[in-house]
This record gives sequence, C-alpha cells and structure tokens, in this order.
Amino acid sequence: TETGCLSIIVLGASGDLAKKKTFPALFNLYRQGFLQLNEVHIFGYARTKISDDELRDRIRGYDFVHPTHKYLPQGKENTENVSNFLQLIKYVSGAYDAPEGFQALDNAISEHEISKNSTKGSSRRLFYLALPPSVYPQVCKMIKNHSTNKSDLGGWTRIVVEKPFGKDLASAEELSSQIGELFEEPQIYRIDHYLGKELVQNLLVLRFANRFFLPLWNRDNIDNIQIVFREDFGTEGRGGYFDEYGIIRDIIQNHLLQVLCLVAMEKPVSLKPEHIRDEKVKVLQSVAPILDEEVVLGQYDGYKDDPTVPDISNTPTFATMILRIHNERWEGVPFILKAGKALNSRKAEIRVQFKDVPGDIFKCQKQGRNEFVIRLQPSEAMYMKLTVKKPGLEMSTVQSELDLSYTQRYQGVVIPEAYERLILDTIKGDQQHFVRRDELKAAWEIFTPVLHRIDKGEFKSLPYKPGSRGPAEADKLLERAGYVQTHGY
Ligand code: BG6
Repeated sequence: TETGCLSIIVLGASGDLAKKKTFPALFNLYRQGFLQLNEVHIFGYARTKISDDELRDRIRGYDFVHPTHKYLPQGKENTENVSNFLQLIKYVSGAYDAPEGFQALDNAISEHEISKNSTKGSSRRLFYLALPPSVYPQVCKMIKNHSTNKSDLGGWTRIVVEKPFGKDLASAEELSSQIGELFEEPQIYRIDHYLGKELVQNLLVLRFANRFFLPLWNRDNIDNIQIVFREDFGTEGRGGYFDEYGIIRDIIQNHLLQVLCLVAMEKPVSLKPEHIRDEKVKVLQSVAPILDEEVVLGQYDGYKDDPTVPDISNTPTFATMILRIHNERWEGVPFILKAGKALNSRKAEIRVQFKDVPGDIFKCQKQGRNEFVIRLQPSEAMYMKLTVKKPGLEMSTVQSELDLSYTQRYQGVVIPEAYERLILDTIKGDQQHFVRRDELKAAWEIFTPVLHRIDKGEFKSLPYKPGSRGPAEADKLLERAGYVQTHGY
C-alpha cells in the first residue's frame, strides 16, 4: 500500500547469489505483478566495468524457471516477460569501498526517483547485499554516507544481508555492532531462506490452529524430534568457502535451528513479528550446553580432492547433534539435528516421534510408533504414521499413513520460491521471517563452544562414503536418543 518510487539495489550484481537467487526471485515477482513497471527500478552494482546492456545480457542467460514454476508460461510469453523485466535494470560499477562509486549510485537512483516521482516524492531504497560478509561493514558505511534515502517526503532505506553472519559469537557480535551503528534494527533484514519455505511458514498454523496438536505437543507425549537436512551432492566448487565454515555453520546453526525454534516455541501473544521473535529467542536461551557424546561429525571421502580444500582438513560435511531444551514443555525430549552433504538423498524434514502406547494389548509396538513427518522438500508433504488393523480376516495390525501431499492436494498451486517471499517481505517491511539480532546472538551462544573445539581439532570427522547414510555412529546416536525405526511397512 505504500506509494512512491522503489529502488532495489543489488550489490554484488555479477556474483553467484545474485545469479542463482536474487535476480530470478526479482524476475518472478515482476512476472506476477508485484513490481510495478512505473515505480520500480533495479540497480546492479559491482566492480566489473560493463554497460547496462551487458549486465542485461548476462541476466538474460540466467535460469529463471524455478522447479515449482514449471507449468507457468514458457517460450515466447516468457521471453517477452524477461525482456520487459530487463528494461527495469540499470548498472553502476564501482568498488565496495569507493565513495565515488556510491555517489554515482546515489545519483542514478535519484535520477530515477525524480523522473518517476514528480507527484509522489517519497523514496524507498532496498539494498540487497549479495556479497561476502567481510565487506558488509564497509559497504554499509558507504551506503549510509552516500546512498540512503534523503527525501523529505518520506520513504525508507533497508538493508538485506545473508549468512554467514560471523563465524562464532564474538565475530557475529562484532559484525552486528558495526552494522548496528549505521542502521536501526528495523532497517536490517537478515535472511535465513529456510524461513521463506512454504512448510516452514506453515509450522505456526499447524501447531496453533489445530486442536489435534495442542495437547500432544509436549514431553508427556513426544519421545524425540528430528530435524534433518540431506543433500545428495558434495560441496561442488564451493570447497574454499565451505572448508572455512563446515556443515554446522552452513546449515545447522541457522536453517535447522530456525526450524527448531518454530517447532518448539510457545504460542506467541499475536502474529506480530516481534511477538513471534520474542518466543523464538526464549527457546534458544533455554537450550542446554551440547554434550560431547551427543555429537557425531563426518566428512565424505573425496571432499579433499577439491584443490581449494587443504589436505589436512577436518571440516565436517556431516553432523548429527542433540539439543536439549530445558523448559517445562521439553525437558527430556532430544531434538536431533542432522545435516550432511553427499548423502544418499536430497531431503529436508521434521520427524516428530511419539511415545509408545502404554499397555499395548495388540503387541504391535515393535512395528513402530506414531510419527508425524513434515517434509519441507522436495515435494512438500505432511504425513502421520499410525497403526491400523491389517485389512482382511485376520486380527493383526500394520503401520500405515494419513498423507497430505501438496502436489496432489493442491494441484496447480504455485508454491513460491523462498527468496520471492522474503524479498516481498522486505518491500512490505515485515520482519517476521528474518533473524533478529538477539536471536542471532543466542544461536551463536549455543554452537560456539563446540565449534571452537572442532576448530582446534578436538573432534574428529569420521569418514563416510559419498551416497551413503553418513557415518554409522550417527545412527547409533539416534538409537541412544530413543529414536525407533518403523518396521513392517
Ligand atoms: C545454503 C547453504 O544456505 O543452503 C548450502 O549454504 C545449501 O550449502 C543450501 O546447499 C540448501 O538450500 P535449499 O533451499 O536447497 O535446501
């Protein structure tokens, strides 16, 4: 509902993130009518000296079609859409610490605002930092000094940043303070793209809008919860980056922990972003120190073949670890976080396993327990594993499923890509699905002790074969935590 001119500035316009996520998301928002032609302009900024048309030609070659959009217009209609979209894009080149570059950027934005704004006058400037975090402080300073919205008629300046936000508690806090000195918290949008996924956004609805779950969602009924991320490919060309961070910083400390918060948090006072984020922070603050014997690390064979990875690297590409939340609802329930590269499948899911039924007259307990599975990707789905009578004359039991598979139930419904939603939220000014500074700090507090010890070589990453389930020790840890595999199914 806000009016006025909107400028989206993609810093790092020729980089990988811009190519894979930012521009395709902007294109899809444009195609769906969310970026109105007369009011929006997109500015690319990077060091390479190229013309507007050269940037447009590069972008034209990007893969705009997200898998879930495959039934949308292709061919000619799409080519026309892309051409119109490209006309919104301008390019400014400059270094990330060059005042003259950011001044030129400011001039270009102002020119656009003046030409579009003769009647409205306000200016909205969204700076998307598709850049390595090492340059965030200097870039934020340049933006602050040279390129923010200065219109008397209102508007705003917002900054979008991506992980990794630091490498541990101290470096994250330093980064937060540096950016915090320049911009107010409501101007800063820290992306964790898992918060933009359809089934992650569904978690609060599921938990708090269904009578089914309310009385069951606690330590009295739930035995253990797994939050799992698997990829069936390795670090593929990102070895240099990855080796510095490892799987805990890359996936667990952010994506899986955010999911854990939404699974474990109490009902927020309202749906206001601050109320939701308050409850998430409480969960994080209730997490107990991670125990050594509840961590298993792995590294796939062949990881070190990447020339950018040192031969002696012990960086984990796989980890299973247990988090324990000390509060009234969750005391004693292990939250098993598991993430790995180069495994046997690509999948992200939440598995809530319920306790055994007391007094099992059917003697069916060995077949498996009730389990509620939320599959975040691929093929979004939720299903409940439950015991039923085996159909037929015999009185015996069998494990079955109540299944809500999105592709069947919501045929033809386009599930937006995470980045589309998140960029739209930044334009609307909705911070619910972004990580607040205190949340980030609490997240680093949980993992920093263990990460420091891994960095010192005090934990060994066990080898595993690419395409396997990961180290066998991880399955043993799962069993020790109480997870029961379902059989007979
Ligand atoms: C990124 C990680 O944040 O998430 C990558 O840096 C990982 O290593 C990616 O591959 C996974 O995202 P998605 O949406 O494909 O599950």
